[in-house]
Order: sequence, then C-alpha cells, then structure tokens
Amino acid sequence: MADIESLLKEKRSFKPSSEFVKQANWNKKTIKEYRKLGAKDPERFWAKMAKKNVSWFTPWKKVLEWKPPFAKWFVGGKLNVSYNCLDRHLVGDNAWRRNKAAIIWEGEPGDTRVLTFGDLHREVCKFANVMKGLGVKKGDRIALYMPMIPELAISILACTRIGAVHSVVFGGFSAEALRDRIEDAGAKLVITADGGYRRGSPHALKPAVDDALEGVSVVENVVVVQRTGQDTRMEAGRDHWWDDLMKDASAKCPPAKLDSEHPLFILYTSGTTGKPKGILHTTGGYLTHVTTTAKAIFDLKETDTYWCTADIGWVTGHSYVVYGILANGTTSLMYEGVPTHPAPDRFWDIIERHRVTIFYTAPTAIRAFIRLGDEHPKSHDLSSLRLLGSVGEPINPEAWMWYHRVIGGKRCPIVDTFWQTETGGIVISPIPAGVDTKPGSATLPFPGIDAEVVTETGEPTVPPDGGFLVIRRPWPGMLRGIWGDPTRYKETYWSQYENIYLAGDGAHRDASGFFWIMGRIVDVMNISGHRIGTMEVESALVSHQKVAEAAVVGRPDDLTGTAIVAFVTPIMGKEAGPELIDELRGHVTKQIGAIAKPAQIRFTDALPKTRSGKIMRRLLRDIASGKESVGDTTTLEDYSVVASLREGDE
Ligand code: WT7
Repeated sequence: MADIESLLKEKRSFKPSSEFVKQANWNKKTIKEYRKLGAKDPERFWAKMAKKNVSWFTPWKKVLEWKPPFAKWFVGGKLNVSYNCLDRHLVGDNAWRRNKAAIIWEGEPGDTRVLTFGDLHREVCKFANVMKGLGVKKGDRIALYMPMIPELAISILACTRIGAVHSVVFGGFSAEALRDRIEDAGAKLVITADGGYRRGSPHALKPAVDDALEGVSVVENVVVVQRTGQDTRMEAGRDHWWDDLMKDASAKCPPAKLDSEHPLFILYTSGTTGKPKGILHTTGGYLTHVTTTAKAIFDLKETDTYWCTADIGWVTGHSYVVYGILANGTTSLMYEGVPTHPAPDRFWDIIERHRVTIFYTAPTAIRAFIRLGDEHPKSHDLSSLRLLGSVGEPINPEAWMWYHRVIGGKRCPIVDTFWQTETGGIVISPIPAGVDTKPGSATLPFPGIDAEVVTETGEPTVPPDGGFLVIRRPWPGMLRGIWGDPTRYKETYWSQYENIYLAGDGAHRDASGFFWIMGRIVDVMNISGHRIGTMEVESALVSHQKVAEAAVVGRPDDLTGTAIVAFVTPIMGKEAGPELIDELRGHVTKQIGAIAKPAQIRFTDALPKTRSGKIMRRLLRDIASGKESVGDTTTLEDYSVVASLREGDE
C-alpha cells in the first residue's frame, strides 16, 4: 500500500480565490444546505434538482421506485433530452440563445465550424427525420462509429429526439470489437464516416464498418458522413451518404414525449470477463444528474466557453461534452484530433484562440504535457481559463501541481472528478467554491450521493485504512442494467454487499473525510483513463493460433498510468521470438484496438497457478513491475515457475 502512504503525506491544501467564490453558481451556503438535504432526504434533493434544471412535459408521480438492484427515477414523468439541450434555449427568456454558439468545432487540419443552438436544432430535427425515413422507431438501437465531428453530436441528439437508443463505439476500436457491440445491441442502423483526421493524416473508418457487418444481418442501413474525401466503397441499397439524405429532409420534427425511464443509450465498457458490458442509461434521472453536476462542479455560466477533451466515444464525452453542457445552454468546444498536431502546443493554441474558460482533461494527457515541456503552454495566453478539471484515473500530486501552476496560473480551482461509465455522472468531486482542494484527492461525494469506503464485511473503514468504494443508496444517473444480462448486472455490482453498489475501486478517507481513490481492485486495468479488462486482452491473445495460454496484468507507467504486460505460453514448437511479439501485438490491435496493445509481451513455459488452477495474477503483477513478492505464495502449485519468470527479467 505504498501509494496510500505517499498520498497520506500530501498536506498541501488550496482555497478558491475570493473572486471565484463570489461569483460561483453554488456558494458555500447553498452547498451546505444541499449537503444537509442530500444526506437527510436524497430523494427530495434530487427532485428539487430535477425541477430546477430539467424541463418536463409531464411531471413525475413518484421520485424513486427502488426494487433492489433495480431503480426507477421520476416515475411517470415525461421529457425529451434533445428538447432540454436545444428547444428550450430557443424560447421565452432564453430565445436569444438561438444565435449563441452551441458547438465550436475544430478539425485537426485546422478547419472550424460553429453551430449555434438554432443551427444545431435544425440539423438534429433534419437528421431525426432522416432516421425516421430509414424506418427507425422508438426503442431501436443505433450504432455510431465516428470521428469527433459535429455530426456525431447531431446524431446522438437526433436519436434522443425520436427515442432511438444510441450505442457509440469509440472510433479507435477494431472491426471485431465493433461487430460484437453491434450484435450485442441488435443495432439496425450504423452511422459512420469515410474517416477522420488523426496525427496529420486521414484515418479510414468505413472499411472497418464493412468488415464488421460481414455476415451480420440485423443492420439494415449505414449512413456515411463525408469527412476526409477518402475513396469509400458504398454498398448499394445499404449505404447512404449523409449529405444526400439531409438535402431534402424537413427541419420540423416535434420531440417525442418519452417516459423518464425510456432507454437513452448503451455504452460498452470492460469488465472482468472477455465480453464487454453494455451499460444502460435512461432518460430523466441521467439528465438530472449530468445537468446538475455540470452546473455545480464546472460552475457553468452563460458566458463560458467550455472544453472537455474527451472523445464522445467514452462516457465523459456523452455526459460532459454533449448532454450536461448543452442542457445548461453552455457553449461546448469539440476538437477532432491529437494534442500534438501540428505541434505540441495545439491544445494551448486552441485555448488561446477560442478564449476557453473551463478546461476538462485526463491525468494521462497532463503527464504527457509535462514531458513535452513548459515552453509550449508558456508561449500562449491562457488567461481566459478560470476552472480546470481532471477525470479518468487518480491524478498524482505532481501532475496536479503542474496543472495548477502552469495551466491554471495558480488562479483556477481544480476539480478532480471521480465517476464511471456506470455512475452516468460525477459522484465524488470538489464543488469549487465550497471545498479546499488537496492534490490527488477527489474530496467529497456530491450532495445526494451516499458514497463510503468499507471493509470486506461492509463496515466503514477507520481513517487512514483503505477499503472498497461503495454507494449505499440509488442515485439518478446510475446504470439501469447491463444490456440483455440482468444476472451479470446483479453479480458484478450488487453481490458483494446487500443492496449496496460496488464501484470496483479501492479508496480510503483521510481525517477530514476526503476520499482518495486508489484505482481498480481486480482484473481491470486503467490505461490512459480507459478501462480495459485483463480477460479481454487474454481472450484476444489466446485466439491467436500460436498461443496456448496467456495472462495479462497491469504495471505502473509514468505516462499512461498503467501499462499492459502479457505473459504468454506459446503452443509447443512455435517460435517464441520478436516476430511473434509483433504478430501478437498486431493481433490484439485487430481484435480490440490499439489501446489494448500490450506494452510488453513475455514468453513463458508455464504460468504461476494455484492448486485449483487459478492464475496468480498478484505474483505476475509483482514480477511485471519488478517488485519482490511479499504476499502469501503457499497456494502456489509450482514455485519454480516464478523463479524462472524472475530469471527472465533482465
Ligand atoms: C474508472 C471508470 C468517468 C469517466 C472516465 C472513465 C477511474 C475515473 C477518476 C478520478 C481516480 C478515477 C476509476 C473508475 N477514475 N475518474 N477522478 N480519480 N480514478 O470512465 O471507463 O467507466 O472508468 O476510472 O478507476 O472506476 P470508465
């Protein structure tokens, strides 16, 4: 528990400036009042937020129906997410927002587009009509495999307009991964693009869709946005160009009045088995959660230009590039490409040119910027920034301090926001005017979120002991299930403790009650802020014809947080050498995507196993990170395996 010890030594604490506190959306008094209400009567607190921050066509009859582990929020209420993100900014007191920027988009080559709330509303209505024309009905699943272009935001908003359920698959995933997700969700339409720009050149997407759809019968149509102009094969009758369909589409499309519990989206995330989990989110509770947290934690103002660098292919992009931001009527900046193109200062250049006021990114990016050198941010005027955010993994205090000093000019509060695909929105984070932050701590649960750190038997831990992070009461943005697999939903999240949500992270609280997240407990690695299951990578490796067995573990990495190390036993007689390493890395990239490519592959004749045949990953983790094993090895079947693995460690 060396990390816990090092974090415990963190004594620095930072107060928000009095100027910030004076103008904050939630001041100290509000925060105190909401914390009190949230603890005493969370349902009343969330109902108050739902009324304040979300527009409903029909009010709900019941705030919460909790039949563990299944929750329904705002039962009987009717609403529409696209109405909340768009239409309500075009009427009444807000009507002037019609010509305010909703999305400021910048492509990697430097091209830009600005869509006002009026423009976005028109495009969303048109595309919703296009989908209707293709036979899409309420409840149908739509898969999206796209670059970070405005059409991605338009498409998901159009789904919400008619009650279709979107499933965005990150553009970095392979054709195989895309096919699994399309089939699991039973998607009948796929929306994609010819390609997008990455690292200075076009990166094709449509060929992966073609591969993914081979032999798949559920998909009836594919809509293709032309982004790069690459040569693109179009299958007659199935594939349609976006522009052709949009040309004559009507811009009139009334928002569907959807039930609060109507499915909004499915988003796949890694679990401990090979098969990714389709995390299901619904409408009213989710929108209440993301809109409220965005307003309080990012302190969103009418005048802000907010930039979250996440791709919409991840949950951060869903909740805090699109829904939580647009629902507040705030301008959201979207960038297509990598941070280092054409030069290492691209992000800082974007912030300076667009006068970005709020910047939300991941620790892995911050660590990469530290390595690139201070001269890049220092050559730009970053004085427009007033608040910084971090998400995706624990931020190490050194990175926090650099972010604070070099990017925030010591004047911007930093919100270290802990949450998960499953939680829908932020659950533990500073509310900037109300908390003195400590580098490396996500501080306190949001009001109405009953988070705790508990022992194996469910008792709250005594500081500074570490334990399991749990949430003891349902919350509005929580997942409603795993698509098509209620048993796995129960087993994964609700079986360790009765009626208590198990987040899967280790954490501890300090003497002031602050939470320090220590990372995933088992079998799920966090690579650059993205969860990859060890089993998923293992399945990919053993699917290669030359591999008999594989075990995958994470080892700490300065840049990506965790790096993947694979221990592989080749099939007898197969050549274990550098060529096989290349082949296997290529194979994993093809099966899952480049993000899952092992940083290191080590060949071994045998893996350390218990007598019952379980691979002892704990030992492999120690070997991979070059540590002495101090834990119990008495259950190990054959100690010589470990000895020979260590010898191979040069
Ligand atoms: C896992 C969730 C939530 C959007 C991005 C990732 C880790 C996330 C923090 C943070 C420490 C964090 C956890 C969590 N995590 N934010 N601020 N401090 N750890 O979503 O892919 O569902 O991953 O990311 O381990 O369980 P995700």
